[in-house]
Amino acid sequence: MTPPIAGFSKLSKNEKIHWLSTTYFSNPDQAKEILSQYWNTDTKLQQLHDEFIENTVSNYYLPLGVAPNFLVNNELYTIPMAVEESSVVAAASKAAKYWHQRGGFKTEIIGTVKIGHVHFMYDGDPDLLETFFNTHKDSFLEAVSSITANMRRRGGGVTAIKLENKTAALPNYYQLHCEFETLDAMGANFINSCLEQFAQTLSSLFEKDHQFTGANLTVIMSILSNYVPNCVVKASVSCPVDELGEKEIKGEEFAQKFVQAIQIAKAEPYRAVTHNKGVMNGIDAVVIATGNDFRAVEAAVHAYAGRNGSYTSLTHASIEDGVFTYWIEIPLALGTVGGLTKLHPLAQWSLELMQRPNAKKLMELTAVAGLAQNFAALRSLVTTGIQKGHMKMHLMNILNQLEVTSEEKEYAIAHFTTNTVSHSAVVNFVDALRS
Ligand code: MEV
Repeated sequence: MTPPIAGFSKLSKNEKIHWLSTTYFSNPDQAKEILSQYWNTDTKLQQLHDEFIENTVSNYYLPLGVAPNFLVNNELYTIPMAVEESSVVAAASKAAKYWHQRGGFKTEIIGTVKIGHVHFMYDGDPDLLETFFNTHKDSFLEAVSSITANMRRRGGGVTAIKLENKTAALPNYYQLHCEFETLDAMGANFINSCLEQFAQTLSSLFEKDHQFTGANLTVIMSILSNYVPNCVVKASVSCPVDELGEKEIKGEEFAQKFVQAIQIAKAEPYRAVTHNKGVMNGIDAVVIATGNDFRAVEAAVHAYAGRNGSYTSLTHASIEDGVFTYWIEIPLALGTVGGLTKLHPLAQWSLELMQRPNAKKLMELTAVAGLAQNFAALRSLVTTGIQKGHMKMHLMNILNQLEVTSEEKEYAIAHFTTNTVSHSAVVNFVDALRS
């Protein structure tokens, strides 16, 4: 076992790389070479990336693709997607084109409430705490007035602060449940700053209040919640069932099978997880492209999908009076100002590509990407199956791994149009070609 290293973070980037390469790699020069291949030659740009996180030793690229032709509320958009999985961008583009011919996507913001808590323990009389809180409610808001001034000027700020008695869940556990409107910011820093101030105000007012002699109040932590069930956007499509028909399948049959596929995802968590994973193929790709926090979005979305006690589908569909309607309701706490959205040149590029959306518009376009992705997956699943499309991309990936020439690639594509793709079949084919 290698001994622990002291002061790793203090080493220069080259020293870190040297230590890693010589400690863990059988071929240190090759290990260094791989890292350096991914450095940006523009030193300023590289420095920007180095400073996003700590101990940066290289950049880890994701492809940035685009899916054009998204008609959303009668406006056309091209959506940026940063994603490594083959077929995702192609599927989004296909779904965009399909719905472009059938009236496009409609969107609606259902809410933009962000939430945070001061979690604390209190072992005294609950009624006394309630009275204390009601007496001092305004003092909490006054205490954050300098933090919230800019946000209030633009129409946001702290929108609610409540005392919650949580002792039924955990002895002595209370919280200040706080709600925020953070406008175009995702708002994590703003919310956490307000909460930490609320916590200080709570502790100091409590200490000064002589009614509480003998009782203890201890703030445990102050932090936003990534669960945002009231920061929700809806995206939908709708058209007469007849218009859903295509070469392989009649509109009526397609609509029935599609709705049943959604009913299965609603009823069966094993299917719902994969179904929602397909939704997140689209959502995460836009969230990452725009420099937003995909871990926060993932956590929120899956909690939302399980909010009624059983994990279920994020998308819904119905057929009524010959009209097929299909929609998603999804919590998305996104920002278009501040943080990485501002710092990362590609996030800025992605936002400009989408015509500089505000946070609400970005929520809408992201939800559309999720719905489109789910539509494309279900459309394949209930008709041809997904392997047909996937295998084309899989073939490309295998061919690239085998470092084929463009001539070999052409032969392989022609051969596998009528033969089944598998890793060994492709390797054998390329071997035969080469010999
Ligand atoms: C693959 O990344 C996503 C799908 O499995 C989604 C689904 O099954 O609905 C195709």
